[in-house]
Amino acid sequence: MKPEVLLMGPMYGPTMEALEAAFAVHHVSKAADRDAFIASLADRITAAASTAFRGMDAATMAMLPKLKIVSHFGVGVDSVDVAAASARGIKVTNTPDVLTDDVADLAIALLLAAVRRVPQGDRYVRDGKWADKVFPLTGTIQGKTLGIVGLGRIGRAIAKRAEAFNLKLAYQGPHRKADVSWPYHANAVSLARECDFLVAACPGGEPTRGLVSRAVLEALGPEGVFVNISRGSVVDERAMIELLREGKLGGAGLDVYDHEPRIDPAFFTLENVVLQPHVGSATHPTRRAMGQLVVDNLAAFFAGKPLLTPYN
Ligand code: GLV
Repeated sequence: MKPEVLLMGPMYGPTMEALEAAFAVHHVSKAADRDAFIASLADRITAAASTAFRGMDAATMAMLPKLKIVSHFGVGVDSVDVAAASARGIKVTNTPDVLTDDVADLAIALLLAAVRRVPQGDRYVRDGKWADKVFPLTGTIQGKTLGIVGLGRIGRAIAKRAEAFNLKLAYQGPHRKADVSWPYHANAVSLARECDFLVAACPGGEPTRGLVSRAVLEALGPEGVFVNISRGSVVDERAMIELLREGKLGGAGLDVYDHEPRIDPAFFTLENVVLQPHVGSATHPTRRAMGQLVVDNLAAFFAGKPLLTPYN
């Protein structure tokens, strides 16, 4: 009998296949009555696998008295109640490092797309407008300053790329980093005042909720561009939409939103935003590597071995 795993929601196809090969997988998403399904397995389930869209909240954890591990697909664990897990000695693992470069690439892509108006240029050509009139000139990223909110693994990977694009750097976070010389700001408003562009690369969840506030976006200003590859919760979305509409924030490049995948339709009416459907890590090699970590952490747990990427 294979060890049993409760799968909270669908994952990348090949990861689901790897999970099925190694474990007896119980699919919450296939149950007609979610809670009754979970309750029917409660006396057996020691391991669960979760995703950004189908996490593990405290109420679900409470239904699973034998739960010992939540193997999470993703680096951001804001859909898992880690505090509740830790309080019960439940281990949470995530998938760091393997997605860093792809997410950092998308941050730069969004910045360039927003500043150089790449989607608008594409539409302009397709719509046959080029033959009548040249496309309006745009801003540049050359010589500008990029502020990074959250200089963790992904923030640093963005910084590395930004330097290659001749951007100057500054950053904000809970602590000054001893090993970098870029200007540090304890406060995001003060960072935004010093920068032309701002990218959010910090974790989501309660500690960073609304960190990129109306005041931060106003400080970034009418020429400023905000890029978000972190979580929608990090920014005051309503204020951002208002400021973009009024031209008080120049533009935005967004991969994440408050309500995914049914985002605020106000975004569709804004010409100065570039929108992506939460795809920072959504490349085949990275998703495969993330899935392997999900499987390997569960296998290590069942084998009584050290977890590969423990979060708590
Ligand atoms: C994706 O958003 C992740 O947290 O890995």
